[in-house]
Amino acid sequence: MNPQTAQTDAQILDLLKERWSPRAFADKLIESDKVQSLFEAARWSPSCFNDQPWQFVLSQKDDSEGYDRILRCLLEKNQSWAKTAPLIGIAVARNSFRHNQKPNRHAWYDLGQAMAHLTFQAAAMGLYVHQMAGFSETAARSELAIPDGFDPVSAFTIGYLGSPEALPENQRQGETSPRSRLKAAEFVHQGVWQSK
Ligand SMILES: Cc1cc2nc3c(=O)[nH]c(=O)nc-3n(C[C@H](O)[C@H](O)[C@H](O)COP(=O)(O)O)c2cc1C
Repeated sequence: MNPQTAQTDAQILDLLKERWSPRAFADKLIESDKVQSLFEAARWSPSCFNDQPWQFVLSQKDDSEGYDRILRCLLEKNQSWAKTAPLIGIAVARNSFRHNQKPNRHAWYDLGQAMAHLTFQAAAMGLYVHQMAGFSETAARSELAIPDGFDPVSAFTIGYLGSPEALPENQRQGETSPRSRLKAAEFVHQGVWQSK
């Protein structure tokens, strides 16, 4: 069995078990119909007031100028592996509602959920997603011309699985070590909050 397959305590979808966040991606562009399906999946995500506050700035490696512009926004540690991925992007949330311009305190939540939709659509198509907090918001704003009213929230890479050999030595082991999680009982509260 793949060491990255989740060892679950209850039955879950195979898609969820098999998803993980690799650092080594194959040197292969993502077909344009698949890229379209990824963002179609994000499109049909639920959101507060159906506001759909998600925006994505992305580039594939065949547009080297656009790709490098996004890569430059990542922290160096993430750049060192992210550059193996064929597609790179920044996920952005509109921070006020379209219908009344009031602050949308669920915008980041909705963006995260859209990313989850995208991630599972990716898994169904044999693609992997690795999200990152390690990027510079300032660089993203200036390099990518993200205007006020929009928050660059996370970066992401997407691609087919590659060989760990492509990675710097200190990052190879992570590609094959088992994934771990808290037990569900540590975060599920029955009826009322319980100290855990
Ligand atoms: C919002 C967010 C930020 C993350 N930031 C980084 C990051 O900056 N660098 C990195 O290598 N991984 C990052 N990750 C990946 C997590 O470390 C990874 O999802 C977690 O260890 C669980 O592993 P799995 O996705 O393979 O199950 C991030 C994931 C998320 C969802």
